[in-house]
Amino acid sequence: MNYPLTGIIVAMQEELEVILQSLDKEKTVDRAGMQFHVGHYAGRPVVAVICGIGKVNAALCTQIMISEFKTEQIINLGVAGGLGADIKPGDIVISDSLVQHDMDVSVFDLPKGQIPRLDVFDFKADPKMLQAAISASEQITEHNHFVGRIVTGDQFVASPEGAKALHEDFNALACEMEGASIAHVCHVNHIPFVCIRSISDNANSGAHMDFAQFTPIAVANASVLLQNMIPLCDATPPAHA
Ligand code: ADE
Repeated sequence: MNYPLTGIIVAMQEELEVILQSLDKEKTVDRAGMQFHVGHYAGRPVVAVICGIGKVNAALCTQIMISEFKTEQIINLGVAGGLGADIKPGDIVISDSLVQHDMDVSVFDLPKGQIPRLDVFDFKADPKMLQAAISASEQITEHNHFVGRIVTGDQFVASPEGAKALHEDFNALACEMEGASIAHVCHVNHIPFVCIRSISDNANSGAHMDFAQFTPIAVANASVLLQNMIPLCDATPPAHA
């Protein structure tokens, strides 16, 4: 069987380490200061990379993944701040939609988050990858999973007011710093994409301390989900087929 080449993008070293433990690595290629690890994961061909923190790093990395490594589908995995009362550290949020919350051209009557002159407001996850992520998370009973909007911006959200505003303004379940930027690059390149985030904090005043405590647990949860999910993505055809 011809499996699609999957790009796995994470933002931090801790997140890559657990993936590398199960990666049958063939080579590592350096581009733009990033190390792209090429190999097989759960028997499927993958390229795994740390993109670094924030939207510019994430966009740069994603375009290299697509243009140079010819990845046919992309998964962004990592941690996020939970938004709203129901979501707790350790839970998983799977994106059905992503928005860049710090894009603000409202002075020209555009809704907050709308990128001017783009054909969409939000970036939708690929339906088949979304279903694969949901099915994979249903195999794990130790934590809850939620499906909804994830918002992205170049800031670590650490105030109850900031978290409330993102939850209410965007109807978002989680906030992080890369997902919608990766989704944007995938959108313009017609590459299927999904973002899976494990909650490390509640984006409130204790967020930086919870982040330190819960990130190892959150990273482990996300990696179990990835193991379950990758084989379920086989049916997703390349966008250009
Ligand atoms: N990633 C994990 N927690 C976060 C937060 N509170 N804000 C932004 N990105 C995050």
